Amino acid sequence: MFQKTPPMGWNSWNTFGSDINEEVILTMADAMVEKGYLEKGYEYLVIDDCWSLHERDSEGRLQADPEKFPHGMKYAADYVHGKGLKFGMYSCSGTLTCAGYPSSYDHEYIDAQTFASWGVDFLKYDYCYHPKTVPGRVLYHRMANALNNCGRDILFSACSWGADETAKWIKETGASMWRSTGDIFDSWESIKKLTYEQLEILPYAGVGCFNDMDMLVVGMHGKGNVGLGGCSSLQYRTHFSIWAFMGSPLMIGSDIREMPDEDCLTLQNEEMIAINQDPACRQIAQLTSFGWKPENLLVLFRPLADGDIAIGLFNLSDEARHMGFVLDELGVPVSSGKTLLLHEVWTKDDILVKNETYTERVEAYGCRVFRTKIVGK
Ligand code: GLA
Repeated sequence: MFQKTPPMGWNSWNTFGSDINEEVILTMADAMVEKGYLEKGYEYLVIDDCWSLHERDSEGRLQADPEKFPHGMKYAADYVHGKGLKFGMYSCSGTLTCAGYPSSYDHEYIDAQTFASWGVDFLKYDYCYHPKTVPGRVLYHRMANALNNCGRDILFSACSWGADETAKWIKETGASMWRSTGDIFDSWESIKKLTYEQLEILPYAGVGCFNDMDMLVVGMHGKGNVGLGGCSSLQYRTHFSIWAFMGSPLMIGSDIREMPDEDCLTLQNEEMIAINQDPACRQIAQLTSFGWKPENLLVLFRPLADGDIAIGLFNLSDEARHMGFVLDELGVPVSSGKTLLLHEVWTKDDILVKNETYTERVEAYGCRVFRTKIVGK
């Protein structure tokens, strides 16, 4: 499948871990529609690890655990499709999945057929227990070929966490997104760590295959499978803004059936989503005001398809700080007679820049994300 913009959806792992079942999936599908997520672009509902029995059937096929999915997987897929959503599942390139269930090594083609027969539209493919004798690139080629020949359009979501220099070979396999970081946890430290890891590999992201910074923890507040104390709603807003700004797939990991309204508004900010889904998918880069790179302060920019420029000020430190940028570094020199009109996507402030630099105070853990227009004679 050729993917033009970062995929968006919901994944079961962050909140439910092994505790997934039909009721969770069906009620989550209802919530994705009723609470407006589908309308904003969140279209995939993905069941992560721990959905299967520990044995294959007599013909070597994976089978859904009947206690968790009493009506079988096709039933869940049909329900999800009936809501206008797409249905995703999980397997792994090794002999076992990360949680120890049967996995697709040496069963790639039969598993792709099984997924196709259930109506799967998205496959997350992990890297645990993979044989050391077969290179990762070959393992991902195998499943990509199997999916491309299974008779159904299935988005291939690679999950090898950036291991074995994944960035250098993943695009050749046919994956549409690839996990470019280790696992996320529901803590501010984890969000910061993944942000800085991603900064080094931004040039690898682009149309067709997107750097995946892992599922969002927005709205978890310490509950669920990857909870480590949780974050404040302000920290979640900054986390979401960074993931969206950096062009990551936006896969929600919280229980959207019961989440504070503030976090729901974060996940549904249309202007932030539009920067993530910008059709040009241009590379994101760091602005340093020609060399200014203080710890925990990050200024990013991205040229957008319609000539606007997105600029993000992210204060990852625990105190308010002054942050900003020099217009010249963005290709808007004073000599041009041009300046920038900033529009902030969270507060909706409109600001005309009057000088060759722009600075403002950004609160601790906060961010400012501007969609800017070049204006003037
Ligand atoms: C790995 C992945 C996670 C999740 C678990 C499931 O850790 O990186 O995203 O899929 O496996 O066991």
